[in-house]
Amino acid sequence: MSTALPEESLVTTTFEEIKSLEQQYLLQNYARYPLALHRGKGCYVYDLDGNRYLDLISGIGVNSLGYAHPRITKVIRQQAGLLLHTSNLYYHEFQGKLAERIAKASGLARCFFCNSGTEAMEGALKMIKAHGNAISPSKHEIISLDNSFHGRSLGALSITGQPKYRKDFEPLLPGVKFVPFRDVRALEAAFNENTAGIAMEIIQGEGGIYPLSEPFVRKARELADRYNALIVFDEIQCGVGRPGTYFGYQLLEPVVLPDIMIAAKPMACGIPLGVIAVNEKAAASIKAGMHGSTYGGGPLACRVALEFFDILDELLPAIQDVGGYFRMRLTDLARRHSLIKEVRGQGLMIGVELEFSGKQLVLDGMKEGLLFNCTHDTVLRFLPPYILSEQDVDRAIAVLDKLFATAQAPAG
Ligand SMILES: Cc1ncc(COP(=O)(O)O)c(C=O)c1O
Repeated sequence: MSTALPEESLVTTTFEEIKSLEQQYLLQNYARYPLALHRGKGCYVYDLDGNRYLDLISGIGVNSLGYAHPRITKVIRQQAGLLLHTSNLYYHEFQGKLAERIAKASGLARCFFCNSGTEAMEGALKMIKAHGNAISPSKHEIISLDNSFHGRSLGALSITGQPKYRKDFEPLLPGVKFVPFRDVRALEAAFNENTAGIAMEIIQGEGGIYPLSEPFVRKARELADRYNALIVFDEIQCGVGRPGTYFGYQLLEPVVLPDIMIAAKPMACGIPLGVIAVNEKAAASIKAGMHGSTYGGGPLACRVALEFFDILDELLPAIQDVGGYFRMRLTDLARRHSLIKEVRGQGLMIGVELEFSGKQLVLDGMKEGLLFNCTHDTVLRFLPPYILSEQDVDRAIAVLDKLFATAQAPAG
């Protein structure tokens, strides 16, 4: 699959130069794969030498329309020549339009724009706190789920239910309770009058592509209402078209609406943009001056996101179809390769649970021109662009079939 590009490369450096500069000058917090990307087109990216890779991880779920999508490239070019940034001191023509678009798609009333998933979660936590404080000083407890992931800031880490992310930063926010993610009884036991809010991912992403059970989500909504707590659905990984619906909670029939929904990753196709969408009850927790963001909701990001939503409207059925086809082909592989324990997911958010660590398979996949990653040690994660075709899936399956046939459990 690694074929060289015919056109001349504009690469000005080498992989070794890039790596050595980074080793010297960057904080050593990332364990990067040995690959430097140079350009992309459709679902494919190219490295410095022009080798081509089918991208099934799309910048961890961000490059929703793949690379160099003509409509996205066009609006970025146009807007770059007009106005990139205004701050929120002034109006511009796209923020209100995008808020309307997201409000209508989500079933919620109002939006606040920021720059990342973590920043959206911080804002949601502030809303929970402000909502509780307005009722009573003791109403400050937050419930979250084991195995969840909500971001890297101190607030978001405080409700991230995986000790490995939290351990170096304790003590974090007080008053957070974690419950096992499908345990309805534990959920009931965790709620009381001091509960100000609860957060959950409808499909846990970083935790290994685990969908919550419908009874769990419905019970959480019921308990949040009973105890006057705000319920947050973190749709940063499982939302904005990825599950084949606009948002993950719309997979449930009838839909369970949150008080607060946060989203980010795919919305502006690689331009940083996050959103907090809320109903009027949650909106009432924030008064003028209580929250803000310098870059949030700038004209470039909002305009790109409006274009993205126009394209997404037509893509949703295809996401369901090609996602279903991908899972069907993976399930077929699971029948033939005993190292595959389970295939999970919805739409184009797919996890393949293995008997052992998938780290080596990710590296082997790269050598075969296929990009995906491994989360939670044993789960291969696929978050491809929404423009993936059945032919792309066939290509990927041929490579995966070969990888699974030769995969070996790590020694020890
Ligand atoms: C469910 C979820 N919440 C929050 C975040 C944090 O988002 P960001 O990395 O944009 O800050 C992520 C990132 O992977 C996520 O998957």
